[in-house]
Amino acid sequence: MLYQSKITGVGHYVPDNVVTNDDLSKLIDTNDEWITERTGIKERRFANIAKGETTSYMGTKAAELAIERAGIDKNDIDFIIFATLSPDFYFPGPGVLVQKQLGIKEVGALDVRNQCSGFVYGLSVADQFIKTGMYKNILLIGSELHSGGLDMTTRGRGVSVIFGDGAGAVVVSRASENEKGILSTHMHSEGQYAEELALIGPSTSHWVPQIIQENDPENISYYPYMNGNFVFKHAVVRFSEVIIEALQTNNKAVQDIDLLIPHQANLRISQFIQKKMGMRDDQVFNNIMKYGNTTAASIPIAMSEAWEQGRLNSGDLVCLAAFGSGFTWASALLHW
Ligand code: ACO
Repeated sequence: MLYQSKITGVGHYVPDNVVTNDDLSKLIDTNDEWITERTGIKERRFANIAKGETTSYMGTKAAELAIERAGIDKNDIDFIIFATLSPDFYFPGPGVLVQKQLGIKEVGALDVRNQCSGFVYGLSVADQFIKTGMYKNILLIGSELHSGGLDMTTRGRGVSVIFGDGAGAVVVSRASENEKGILSTHMHSEGQYAEELALIGPSTSHWVPQIIQENDPENISYYPYMNGNFVFKHAVVRFSEVIIEALQTNNKAVQDIDLLIPHQANLRISQFIQKKMGMRDDQVFNNIMKYGNTTAASIPIAMSEAWEQGRLNSGDLVCLAAFGSGFTWASALLHW
């Protein structure tokens, strides 16, 4: 027998520290007009790492809210999935750190490494575990701390102005018999473009001792690299494809979507997709203006805000879609 899964609680956490475009222009040669025009971003949050605001801490805060809103006890969680590209440690991953911080029993904790698509990949994994009956309540977190690893000089301005910190979480639970919940999930990747949006070192292919030994000021492989135009062109194609794939699988049309929550990559990407698919403004949720691109955290943060604003109501048809480093892209169609 296959069970149905549904999202029963959403929560998010963002650091208090607001960094505006004008704040960035004091550090690097950029300006509000350039950033707003190219990305739609007005401000983002930067974590206070010295005060313990880490990837796992933010994830735990978001998780506490999601668990409370799901109306369950933390000890009802029987599996944890954590999606991030900016973990607290190289190893172990942040899933176990959340388990420790929440103080919950020895449930399994899985870390997902799929960057901007990480949350939707994680949702797909959660959905399969619920479907088979293996678990009943899965905690799924997307959390990112970009600020500490960005090149905050003019050299890095094409990348650094885009990203922000924050976390979102959901509880995915077994639905009752007559509920629909998650209808389908779809995942894709195209590894030939792995290095078009990547952070190459330090890693096993370029370890810290090697970097120190080389002492090469030109080597900036420890900062994220992005081929911006190339990413943009692929993103708009893959976003549309994977949304249509989700709709066709469920015999639905674009007009049936009550809310599309795209990964908040860049407002221009979301607007391009909206126009291409002929969607109304009220069908698409955007909050990148306030938070920048928070990769794996962007969809659950957006979902939590949409819920708080009353834009996610029982029975609504909701589409989640993401594209990012890998390249990876994914979507999910669900009834709220
Ligand atoms: N402030 C001011 N000037 C800048 C900045 C900045 N922050 N960054 C770059 N510039 C300059 C460049 O140096 C260049 O100057 P030049 O013409 O004198 O050489 C000029 O602006 C144009 O640079 P481009 O890189 O060509 O700018 P473009 O119009 O392509 O915009 C951007 C860059 C915004 C990154 C764009 O390519 C883009 O949106 N790409 C999509 C990538 C994206 O959104 N990624 C998000 C992460 S991935 C994901 O989540 C899917």
